[in-house]
Amino acid sequence: MVEPAVILPSDPLLPRRVDPHFAWEAGALRAVGGSHVLLDHDALLAGDVAAAVHRIPAGPGPLWYRGWMVPTARYAELAEALAERGRPLLTGPDAYATAHELPGWYRTFEPLTPASSWLPGSDWSRSALAAAAAELGGRGPAVVKDYVKSRKHEWAEACYVPDLADLDALERVASRFAELQGEFLAGGLVVRRFEPFARAADGRAEEARVWWLDGEAVLVGPHPDSPAVRVEPELSAVRPLVRRLGCRFVTTDLARSTGAGAADGADGADGAERWRVVEVGDGQVSELPSGVDVEALFRALLKA
Ligand SMILES: Nc1ncnc2c1ncn2[C@@H]1O[C@H](COP(=O)(O)OP(=O)(O)OP(=O)(O)O)[C@@H](O)[C@H]1O
Ligand SMILES: [Mg+2]
Repeated sequence: MVEPAVILPSDPLLPRRVDPHFAWEAGALRAVGGSHVLLDHDALLAGDVAAAVHRIPAGPGPLWYRGWMVPTARYAELAEALAERGRPLLTGPDAYATAHELPGWYRTFEPLTPASSWLPGSDWSRSALAAAAAELGGRGPAVVKDYVKSRKHEWAEACYVPDLADLDALERVASRFAELQGEFLAGGLVVRRFEPFARAADGRAEEARVWWLDGEAVLVGPHPDSPAVRVEPELSAVRPLVRRLGCRFVTTDLARSTGAGAADGADGADGAERWRVVEVGDGQVSELPSGVDVEALFRALLKA
């Protein structure tokens, strides 16, 4: 069996080298006996897939991708170009879209994630926004994001909606969000019910990022926003849903609910029912927090 190689983005300034942001990943990969090939990320985004893959030798052997987020349509072009070179991606374009965009994973994770509704595109009428709010009960706090990312750093302006009953506020936050995302808005608008999650003393969310390969958790670490926070999520409720999703390499960001009723349940205050899925992601494009055992992750990927 040919071991998979890992695609990493090249440095935009020195195209024969790995993008500095991913250099430590290249080092960890080398340390476990793996090898990488280089992708020109900017060329891929610009729609020039031939230029993007020109440094990737033709087969044999499958490839994992580790790199910057790629829009689903561009990922599909990449998959096709690589398949033609005899280098199939181990995450196909359908699996990538399923894990990367909320509408792809939401139904599977519905029991464990904040209730959500969504509107395609970037130009939402007031009546469409009202319908999205109504689907969530029509009142109470909410957050908005696109199919992939939020503007969490512009929380009051472009993320948090204090009350869905205030349609003016929803419209204002959603249009500011669209304005700030600009051409990078992915897919459409997602509206989610706000849930109270546990926070560390400094106010940061206490989130865990769990890396799953073929239905097994291969790495449990902090969310990259708070790499020093240590959390030990209970995974028993999440695991079957990851398996049902059917994507080989995904991440789940987990937070502990502090809301009313969160502590109810047979298995106590830290029980599985308290752990909520903030979001699911494709493991190839999820940010790795500094300080985690990335060698273990690459060892698992090379064997998969
Ligand atoms: N439904 C929700 N209820 C409460 N807080 C939320 C909710 N959705 C998001 N948040 C908060 O906002 C943050 C950002 O949300 P989310 O993870 O969905 O966006 P993101 O931009 O994809 O973030 P990243 O990719 O950096 O993890 C979360 O880490 C969480 O603290
Ligand atoms: Mg997140």
